[in-house]
Amino acid sequence: MTNHEGIGIRITGTGSYLPEKILSNKELEGMVDTTDEWIQTRTGIVERRIAADDQPSSALGALASLNALDAAGLTPEDIDLIIVATISPDKIFPNTACFVQKRIGASNATCFSVEAACSGFVYIMAIGAALIRTGLYSHALLVGAEKLSSIINWNDRSTCVLFGDGAGAVVLSACAPEDNTYLYSKLGSDGNYTDILHVPGGGSAIPFSADVLKNELHYLNMSGQEVFKLAVNTMVAAAVETMEAANVTKDDIRWLVPHQANTRIIHSVAKRLDMPLERAYINVDKYGNTSGATIPIALDEIVRNGLVSKGDYVLLVAFGGGLTWGANLIRW
Ligand code: ACO
Repeated sequence: MTNHEGIGIRITGTGSYLPEKILSNKELEGMVDTTDEWIQTRTGIVERRIAADDQPSSALGALASLNALDAAGLTPEDIDLIIVATISPDKIFPNTACFVQKRIGASNATCFSVEAACSGFVYIMAIGAALIRTGLYSHALLVGAEKLSSIINWNDRSTCVLFGDGAGAVVLSACAPEDNTYLYSKLGSDGNYTDILHVPGGGSAIPFSADVLKNELHYLNMSGQEVFKLAVNTMVAAAVETMEAANVTKDDIRWLVPHQANTRIIHSVAKRLDMPLERAYINVDKYGNTSGATIPIALDEIVRNGLVSKGDYVLLVAFGGGLTWGANLIRW
């Protein structure tokens, strides 16, 4: 997907929201048979945030959105498109973007959600950019919002230590072609791996029932090692293809913003790309894996901490359940 010559696209605002409640590895030691040392060594995670009972994903997403709108100098009514990336929707339907719309009062927006797991944000960035390029939309609010604590089995030590709650948002706006900063997107999927990272029950394949509850099929289930290998391969391939298509080299990239699943995956990706680790943004230590929200949260931290300057190349790259993967290249 390259840029259409007639319409430019740029990021006009970023925002994020992390719930107040912190759950540390130490506290997890009292909940399951694990240790702070195991979690930190295998994942780099130190703590994660947990949303309040009355905060579904849309509530987290709405707060991140208001933050991003403020940064963009726009009102909710200026937004004509809201896309939410989430695997922890408020309800099976209606889509979570409609709940975000209602919460922020974005009465002029078309709303839908995308279910591409941890790649969700790179997917909605590509979709939002493509829709703006049609000329039909001017300001897209792209939101990664997850309350993963609601689909985690808190008795399963192999998954409960990995995930957290949070939301990030980006406003993508149409602009003059000469001001374009959105360079390229690459998305991919492989449906042969639908079983290695999934919530087995509660959908139309295995509708919710007493058996689903008894067998705990409504929780996230993952084959960790298989996911690990595929994650590294797919992220590296997407990053390389994107840089090649945009004619930039690894040395041009100021920030690699990878999906934050664990530091070992990020280190492996940076190593395979032969990029210095200092240029890979890492905050998984503070928030764990917030799936579709990790990349916009990281991007917002980079922006708010003044770590990116005009002209810097920023490469977003992710993988997730599906499998899905993808990358977006932005010249700030
Ligand atoms: N604390 C202590 N021990 C644990 C824990 C824990 N929290 N979890 C598992 N173990 C044990 C296992 O039971 C196993 O014990 P055994 O050898 O006695 O059988 C041992 O640790 C090793 O288990 P592995 O699963 O082999 O551990 P591994 O080194 O692969 O690390 C991990 C596990 C961290 C999950 C790793 O595989 C990984 O990071 N995978 C990628 C996961 C990921 O990124 N998922 C993101 C999904 S993206 C999305 O779309 C949601």
